[in-house]
Amino acid sequence: METLCGKDVTYAAGLLQKEQVVAIPTETVYGLAGNAMNEDVVRNIFKIKKRPFNNPLIIHVANKEQARSLVEDWPSWANDLTASFWPGPLTVLLPKVTKVSGLLTAGSDRVAIRIPSHHMCLELLNALDFPLAAPSANPFMYISPTKAQHVYHQLHGTIPYILDGGSCQSGLESTIIGEENGRLVLYRLGVIDLKRIEQKVGHVEIKNTIGHSSLPASAPGMLDKHYSPGTPMKLTSNFLEELSTKPEKKIGFLCWKKNEILSDFGPCVILSGGEDLMEAARNLYAGLYELDQMGLDLILAERVPDQGAGIAINDRLQRAAAR
Ligand code: TXA
Ligand code: MG
Repeated sequence: METLCGKDVTYAAGLLQKEQVVAIPTETVYGLAGNAMNEDVVRNIFKIKKRPFNNPLIIHVANKEQARSLVEDWPSWANDLTASFWPGPLTVLLPKVTKVSGLLTAGSDRVAIRIPSHHMCLELLNALDFPLAAPSANPFMYISPTKAQHVYHQLHGTIPYILDGGSCQSGLESTIIGEENGRLVLYRLGVIDLKRIEQKVGHVEIKNTIGHSSLPASAPGMLDKHYSPGTPMKLTSNFLEELSTKPEKKIGFLCWKKNEILSDFGPCVILSGGEDLMEAARNLYAGLYELDQMGLDLILAERVPDQGAGIAINDRLQRAAAR
């Protein structure tokens, strides 16, 4: 199959209406999208992504009415959070109605839903009379794509079209939140951090802990190894010390901020010249991609300050470096 790339929302909508799977831009990462209400299409998304069927998909909707039509209940916390953060990088996990397929939710009785804020994605959702199921548009376990070229590189030949919406503004997958036994739980960290969420709805438990292994279906985004480059990667708090133990290796560096010394030792990607965590989030996956294409023996990365979006960036760095 030939994979075209372009900015034609109407063309993308036409393909989706014909039960095709198409890559779409969102403000977080690119998604691999198809009609969420059609089981054959949903099955196809899993297959193209090579994703195990026990790891459920997020549904993207055009508006709150559409979101509410997919769930049994719309609790006040969902109301409070979506009022502040939708459209945007927040996903809510709520009890599904029966018309939402158990294939999509991997057998769970909850469904994950969000309204993305990317203008082309919203235009597309508004042109369709069904919502879109979309996981990140990367093969299972690999780095999430934040540019159309990333998607092309990984998935060309398997989908007919990539809707090119430029570089993703936010750059990390959405924050996921749900309720368990009357308590709010944050399942995946994102650029909307815990502090901002707790300001709206009070105490929220975190179940995102690295090293905690359980089935993806009950604990989203929790695979210890995830978002990984093909090149071995290591987190370090001291680049130079690390270098001294590996003299013969070809090493690339993923740095939080400007670093004049390191560029003598190998290619260096700076996440944020201005030391801005939102900028670092936006650049993280593209930086990993770039380094992963260089044929290096090792990517050395450093943590960013552990606050705001930095908490989610560090979480992704740790998973990317997990063996
Ligand atoms: O920002 C995002 O959320 C991006 C863009 C494309 O919207 N999507 C994304 O999808 O990151 P994906 O499939 O790569 O990650 C979704 C996560 C998975 O870890 C999955 O296990 C979890 O959400 N998830 C989805 N539905 C769920 C459900 N019903 N119950 C528990 N976890 C769920
Ligand atoms: Mg993903």
